[in-house]
Amino acid sequence: MIAIGSDHAGYELKEKLKNHFKSNLSLKDFGTDSYNSCDYPLIAEKVSKAVSARECEKGILICGTGIGISIAANKINDIRAALCYNTELAEMARRHNNANILCLGARVTSFETSINIIKTFLNTNFESGRHEIRINQIKKLEK
Ligand code: RB5
Repeated sequence: MIAIGSDHAGYELKEKLKNHFKSNLSLKDFGTDSYNSCDYPLIAEKVSKAVSARECEKGILICGTGIGISIAANKINDIRAALCYNTELAEMARRHNNANILCLGARVTSFETSINIIKTFLNTNFESGRHEIRINQIKKLEK
């Protein structure tokens, strides 16, 4: 199960992505449910806690730029949220950083590019090895 959530700026992209992936991805939607203005930290918290608790294997978070929602998500223990604007970043976020949440910016990334970023993110494995040591060092920075 993949958690997905957005603020109002990411709402349209979230809905389009849900529709696009409906037959091949199991997505759990944590809102928002309309174009009405809302606060991205609250959505980031819901998705991040679902991933942190292992209720969902990975997460996708969308706001206007992807910046605010990634900053918020990374406050939750065990979350490594990566803001990706292209497939190269998505690949490296998985291979080297074992990112468990993908953040997208709906105002700066097209629907087609978002689809490719998501496919890359979900289909790329963590390389472990020396990167595992660094992930554990990040874990020690948590409060
Ligand atoms: C909302 O206007 C916008 O600030 C938000 O979606 C996001 O881009 C923040 O980083």
